[in-house]
Amino acid sequence: MVKPALGFGGSLIYGLVFLVISATCQDAEVLAILKTTINAPVSFQWTGPDVCKWKHVECDSSKRVVAIQIGNQNLQGSLPNELEKLTALEHFECQSNTLSGPFPYLSKSLQKLIIHDNKFSSIPNDFFKGMSNLQEVRIDDNPFSQWRIPQTLSDCVALHTFSAQSANLVGTIPDFFGKNGPFAGLVLLALSDNFLEGPLPASLSGSSIENLLVNGQNSVSKLNGTLAVLRDMISLRMVWANDNSFTGPIPDMSHHDQLVSVNLRDNQLTGVVPPSLAALPSLKFVNLTNNLLQGSPPRFKFGVGVDNNMDRGRNQYCTNVPGQPCSPLVNALLSAVEPLGYPLRLAQSWQGNDPCANKWAGIICSGGNISVINFQNMDLSGTISPSFASFTFMKKLLLSNNALTGTIPRELATLPLLQELDVSNNHLYGKVPSFRKNVSVKLDGNPDIGKDKPTVSHSGSDKDNSSSNTGVIVGIIVIVAIVLVVGVLILFKFGGKWKHVRKTKNPSAIVVLPHHHGDGHAMKTTSGGGYYGDWTTSTLLSPTTSVYQGESGNLLISIQVLREVTNNFSEENILGKGGFGTVYKGELHDGTKIAVKRMQSAGLVDEKGLSEFTSEIAVLTKVRHRNLVALLGFCLDGSERLLVYEYMPQGALSKHLVNWKAEGIKPLEWKTRLSIALDVARGVEYLHGLAQQIFIHRDLKPSNILLGDDMRAKVSDFGLVRLAPEGKTSFQTRLAGTFGYMAPEYAATGRLTTKVDVYSFGVILMEMITGRKALDDSLPEENIHLVTWFRKMLQKKDSFPTIIDQTIEVDEETLASIRTVAELAGHCCAREPYQRPDMSHAVNVLSPLVKVWKPSETNADDIYGIDLDMTLPEALKRWQAFEGSGTTQASSSHSSKNLNGNTASSDGR
Ligand SMILES: *[C@@H]1O[C@H](CO)[C@@H](O)[C@H](O)[C@H]1NC(C)=O
Ligand SMILES: *[C@@H]1O[C@H](CO)[C@@H](O)[C@H](O)[C@H]1NC(C)=O
Ligand SMILES: *[C@@H]1O[C@H](CO)[C@@H](O)[C@H](O)[C@H]1NC(C)=O
Ligand SMILES: *[C@@H]1O[C@H](CO)[C@@H](O)[C@H](O)[C@H]1NC(C)=O
Repeated sequence: MVKPALGFGGSLIYGLVFLVISATCQDAEVLAILKTTINAPVSFQWTGPDVCKWKHVECDSSKRVVAIQIGNQNLQGSLPNELEKLTALEHFECQSNTLSGPFPYLSKSLQKLIIHDNKFSSIPNDFFKGMSNLQEVRIDDNPFSQWRIPQTLSDCVALHTFSAQSANLVGTIPDFFGKNGPFAGLVLLALSDNFLEGPLPASLSGSSIENLLVNGQNSVSKLNGTLAVLRDMISLRMVWANDNSFTGPIPDMSHHDQLVSVNLRDNQLTGVVPPSLAALPSLKFVNLTNNLLQGSPPRFKFGVGVDNNMDRGRNQYCTNVPGQPCSPLVNALLSAVEPLGYPLRLAQSWQGNDPCANKWAGIICSGGNISVINFQNMDLSGTISPSFASFTFMKKLLLSNNALTGTIPRELATLPLLQELDVSNNHLYGKVPSFRKNVSVKLDGNPDIGKDKPTVSHSGSDKDNSSSNTGVIVGIIVIVAIVLVVGVLILFKFGGKWKHVRKTKNPSAIVVLPHHHGDGHAMKTTSGGGYYGDWTTSTLLSPTTSVYQGESGNLLISIQVLREVTNNFSEENILGKGGFGTVYKGELHDGTKIAVKRMQSAGLVDEKGLSEFTSEIAVLTKVRHRNLVALLGFCLDGSERLLVYEYMPQGALSKHLVNWKAEGIKPLEWKTRLSIALDVARGVEYLHGLAQQIFIHRDLKPSNILLGDDMRAKVSDFGLVRLAPEGKTSFQTRLAGTFGYMAPEYAATGRLTTKVDVYSFGVILMEMITGRKALDDSLPEENIHLVTWFRKMLQKKDSFPTIIDQTIEVDEETLASIRTVAELAGHCCAREPYQRPDMSHAVNVLSPLVKVWKPSETNADDIYGIDLDMTLPEALKRWQAFEGSGTTQASSSHSSKNLNGNTASSDGR
C-alpha cells in the first residue's frame, strides 16, 4: 500500500513510479497463471523471470505486456479471468487452438482480438464496453452459448473488422453498422452461419462496408425482407447473402464499381436481374441459383464464374439461353409488376415464355391474348404501372383489396376493350382518368381518391415523401457522382484483378506501391540534395475544410483552376522536380495552399501512364491517415495529368537532416526527430495493416517524408497498386526503390514483403541518429554504407556515443532514448526479413519515448482529475472512485500508461 504523503510533490512521483512497477510485477503474475491454464508447452520457453523475454509475448518499453500471440499452437485448456489485469494489452491472439471455457474480460486498451476456431463457451455480454481502440475482432467458429450482437459493440469506434461467423449469434442485425453509426471505417462485417433473423437494416445504406457476409443463417425464419439497401452500399467488394429468405428483386448495382463477388443463391429473390449487375467490369463471381428470378437470364462477361443452373427449376427465367430476350407479353407483364416489387406469389407460378400457355397466376387469356388480369387480395403494395395499358386485349383489370398507393395511370383509359377496372379497397388518391362510359370503374374504399394529395402517407409510397427527401437525394447524387468518377478511374486498375476468396475467412491481398519512375529510373541513388528532395509525390498541408475535400475525399478539378492557382505553372511556383514531372505550389482563393503534381507528358497519353495515374488516385483514395499525405483532387485533361495534395510547408525530412546548413535552417532536436520517427512508423503501420489489403510503400526515405509547420511528419509517394496472387504475403516484382534503403533480400531477389519497408525505416532511424546519409561516397570505402557501419558501431559499446549526430545535445536522458532507438534501428535492419519486427512494434517502442517529453494532449489532470495541490491519498481515492465507476478509459497511447494510465487501474493497490 502506498504510504500517505509526507510532502505531496515527491510522494506523488514516488507513487506513480511505484504503481508502474507494481503493474509490471502484476503482468508477470498474470502470465504465470496463463501459463498453467493453457498448459503452455515446453517449446514456449515460458521459464525466465522476465515475461517480456517469453516467446509469443511482447512488451512495451516500460515492460508492460502489450501483446500475446499464441495462435495455432494446439493449446488445450482455458483462459484465466486475471487476463483482464493486463491493462496495457493491445493484441490478444489465440486462434485455432482448442481452448475452452468462458472467454474472460480483457483490457479496454485492446486493439486486436483474434480468437476464432476455439471452443470458448461464452463471451461476456459487455465485453466490448468502452473498447474505443478496438480495430479488429475475429471470433468465428466458437461454440458460444447463444448471444446477441451487443449494443455495447457500438463503443468500438475504431472498428474496421468484425467477424463473428459460426458464433451462435441470435436476434437481429443491429442498426449501428451503417453510415450514421459509430464506425467510420468498418470494412468487414461477417456474420455468416449464425441464427440471425429479420432484415438487413436500412441503416446500412451508405456504409463503408466492403465485405458483407451474412449468408447461411440457421434460424427458422433466416434473414428476410428485401436487398434494397445494397443499392446504397457502393463500397461493396463482396456480398454474400446466400442461404437466407430474402425476397424482392436484386437492386440496381450500377454504382458498385468495386464489386467482385456476389452470392445470392438460395433465397426467394424475384424480378429481373438488373442489367447493371452483369455490366460491372469488376465482377468475377456471381451465384444466383435457387431463387425465383425472372426475365431473360443475365449474360455475364467472359471470365465471370456463374452458377450454370440456368434450368427453369432453379429460377424463373423465361428461357434457358443467357441474353435471349423474353416474349413481348412476358416483358410487359414483368414491367407491370415491377412497381409491385415482383410479388413472390406471382413469381412462383410464372414459368416459361408464354403466359397463356402456362396458366400464370392472375392471368386469364383468350385466343392467345391476355383478357383478364386479376391481382385481387394479394397483399400487394406499390403503385399501379402504366404498363398495364400495353395489354390491348384486356377486358378486366382487377386490383382490389391490396395496399396499392399512388394514382390511377391515365394510360389505362386508352385500353380499347376494357370493361371493368376494380381498384376498390386500396390507398389510391388523385384524379380518376376519364374512362369510356361503358367501363365499370370501382373505386370504393380509397378515401383519398379524387383528392390532390393523400391525407395519410402509406408505407410503400415513396413518392409521397419525395419532397422532404429531395435534399438527401440531391446529396446522394452528388456523392455518387463523385464516387463514380473516382470509381471509374479506380476500375482501370482494379478491374479483374481481385481474387475470389475463401468462404469463411477473409480476403487478404497485398498491394504494392511502386513508383512513377519508368524502368529506366527505377533504381536511383539517394539524391539527398533537391529542395524538396525527390518529389515522387509532393504535398501540401493546411488542415482546412477546403472545398476540395468532398466526402469521398477527392474531386475532379479543372485544368483552368489549376492553371490559375499556380500562376500558369510558373517557374516561381516550382517546389520540386523529378523523373515523373514537376510539383508546383498553388494557392486557392480561400488561401488554402496546395501542391500540384504535374506529370511529365510524353506527348501521347499511353495506357500505362494513364493506369499508373489512376492507380495513384485509387491508392490515395483508399489510404487515409493523419501520417500519410492526403490527396485533395486530381485533373485529367487531354495529355495533362495532375494530382493535388495538401501542402507541407516545411518540405522533406532530407532537407532538415543532411542539408540543413545549405538550406540555412536549424538542425532538428532529438525530440523532434523522435516525434517524426513515430509519425512515420504510424503511417507505415497503417499502410501495412490496412483492412484486407496490405500496402507496401517500397521507397521509404527522408525525401519522401514531408513536414508540416508543426514538424509533424507525413509519408508521401504512392504510385502503382499491384495485387499479389491470392494468399501470398510475399511475391516477386519489378524492382523499384533507392539504393541505401533497399532491403538486401529485395535487392537480390525482388521478393517483396512489408519487412522491406521496415528495413528502410531502420535506415531512416539510423540517419536521424547519425545525421549521415544512407550512402555517403565521400567516406572511406568501408563506411560508405550506413547500415553496415552502424551495425559495426552498435556492437562496440564504447563507440556508441561517437556515432550520434554532433548537432544533438546529449544529456543522460537523451542518450538512453537514442540508445533505444538505435537498438530498434538495428532490429529493423536485420539481415533476414523474419528477424525484423513489424511496424507496430516500432510504434510501441517509439511512442513512450516521444511522450516522455510531450505528454499526450489530454494530460493526467483532464482524465483523472488529479490536482497537483491534492495530497497523494486524496488523489488515490479519486482514482479508485473512478475505477469503481467502471469508466476507466484506457488511453490509446503508451504514454498515458506510463504516466497515468495504469495508476487508474487496480494495479496500483
Ligand atoms: C421476417 O421474419 C420475421 C420473423 O423473424 C417476421 O416476423 C417478419 O414478418 C418477416 N418479414 C418479412 C418481410 O417476411
Ligand atoms: C454457387 O454456389 C454453389 C453452392 O454454394 C456452389 O456449389 C457453386 O459452385 C457456386 N457457383 C459458382 C459459379 O461458384
Ligand atoms: C390476339 O391478338 C392478335 C394480335 O396479336 C390478334 O390478331 C387476334 O385477333 C387476337 N385474338 C383475340 C381473340 O382477340
Ligand atoms: C363501349 O363504347 C364504345 C364507344 O364509346 C364502343 O366502341 C365499344 O364497342 C363499347 N364496348 C362495349 C364492350 O360495349
